[in-house]
Parts: sequence; structure tokens; C-alpha cells
Amino acid sequence: GRVALILGGSSEERPISLRSGAAVLAALQRLGIDVTPLDPADHPGSALFQVLNPQRFDRAFLILHGRGGEDGQIQGALETLGLPYTGSGVLGSAIGMDKYRTKRVWGGAGLPTAEFALILDEADLQQAVDLGFPLMIKPAHEGSSLGMARANDRDELIAAWHEAAKLDAVVLAERWLTGAEYTCAILGEQALPLIRLETPNVFYDFDAKYQANSTSYLCPCGLPESIETEYQALCLKAFHAVGGSGWGRVDFMLDEAGNPRLLEVNTIPGMTDHSLVPMAAQTAGIDFDSLCARILETSML
Ligand code: DAL
Ligand code: MG
Repeated sequence: GRVALILGGSSEERPISLRSGAAVLAALQRLGIDVTPLDPADHPGSALFQVLNPQRFDRAFLILHGRGGEDGQIQGALETLGLPYTGSGVLGSAIGMDKYRTKRVWGGAGLPTAEFALILDEADLQQAVDLGFPLMIKPAHEGSSLGMARANDRDELIAAWHEAAKLDAVVLAERWLTGAEYTCAILGEQALPLIRLETPNVFYDFDAKYQANSTSYLCPCGLPESIETEYQALCLKAFHAVGGSGWGRVDFMLDEAGNPRLLEVNTIPGMTDHSLVPMAAQTAGIDFDSLCARILETSML
């Protein structure tokens, strides 16, 4: 059927979405699918409802990252229009975009995450200090590591909070995790092989994600099979706990005791040539075009 590929949008992650979207568009075209790219930024307000007319399209492939696209807003509009779409629904998208609520849900479900403090104003800073330095400071509703920084002392905490607060009124301070970082791609409710990320940067930041050639991606990740299976099961649970469905990615790190600590859920993870879900799929024997076809099928669930 006729597919609307929704890409771009107006979040801070727009440039990444355009890269993901270009790759997905090429794949869907190679597959012979009748696909039209649509950028919500070109159709502000109710104009979007007119172009997303179910008489023009049979389904939507969502490749928007960040707020407005990955957070349930566009999903709600599509529900209202009666147009099936890929990936998570309104609730899973909304919780997944919110790192604070995600942690609250995981805490309630007994799933491990890094200790954290919520910083809404200056009075909250002491709680962050009490976690102990270094700290990871992050905006609660961003992606691609935008607005994130390590803070080694109180002055750096205040500076990092001000930077993060430019992007989001809700900021989190997390205990710094010292162990390895992993990610678990999820496709059709199945966990794909884990990827281990290694960067010489202070952390897996925007540069390490999209620009640097110094980032190492280990997939297979080198963990004993029984441990990998255990972590995959944890990530699937974490994904379902926030209401995620269809496809996505769960990121986690190990703490100093070697225990996994969940970081976040991405309900529309990156699909650029540096991105992780395509890498994990490749290791599982699923090429990029087949991956896009499988994601498109999630709109029919
Ligand atoms: N937020 C970026 C796109 C990712 O998770 O891959
Ligand atoms: Mg993210």
C-alpha cells in the first residue's frame, strides 16, 4: 500500500531524523514500496492532518526522533486519523521520551536503573550532590546525548544543569556508571544481539555517536551467551514495562559491581549509517532493507 514516511520534524534531533529518514526512504524504494516522504515541519498545525489523509495513505512509517515525533504526539494524531503507524503507541512513546517517568516505571517494576536526582530548580541541587561525584547530567526529554555532560564537582554540576536546562526544564543527575555500555535492539518483540560501545570520549556523546571514527562497536558483544540472554530478557522487560511495542532500543551500562543499570528506551531509534539497530540486525542476518520491511510490518500489528 501507499506509505507516508514521516521524517524531520522540529525537535533538536531533526538532523539525525533526516539522516535516518533518507536511509529508510532509499530502502523502501529499493523494496518497490510506494512511499512518499513527509516532513511535519513543512505542514504546520492542522495542515498535517490534511496531508496525512487516510485516502492518500494506507500507513505511516515514523522516523521522527525526539519531542513532537517520538513522544506520542504524532502517534495520537495518527490514531485520530485512523492511519496505522510503525512502532510504539501513544503511551509507550510518551513514557519512553521521558527519562524521569521511565525510571519511575522501572523502579516500580523492580528493574535496575542508575540512582538519580531530579533537578527542577536550585533547591534540588543538594540531592544531586548527595549522590556523589562524578555525576551524569542530562535533560529528561532529549536524545542523541544532546545537553548531556559529566560533572565532577558542584560548580560543574551547576554549569551542566544550566546547559541541560536550555533544552529542557526537567533535568536529571545520575550516579556516574563506570562499567561497559551496551544497547539492545528490539524488533517485533524479539531482542537482537547486544552491541557493546567503546569510546575514548568521556562518554558516548553526540560526537561518538555520529561523527567520530574512534568509536568501537562490538557485535557480537563478547559476553558469555547466558549473560547476553539474561540482559536481552531484561531489556525486553524494560521495553514492555514502559509500553513499548513493535521496535525500539534499550540502552544500559554496568555499574562498578558489574550489574546492569538501565539507562533509557528509544521508541524510534536512529537508522543512520552510524546507528545501532541496523548493526544489531546485520549480526542477526537481517540486512537494512529487510529491517525496514520488518519495521513497516509493525504498523500492521
Ligand atoms: N535518539 C537517537 C536517534 C537514537 O536513539 O538512536
Ligand atoms: Mg534516546
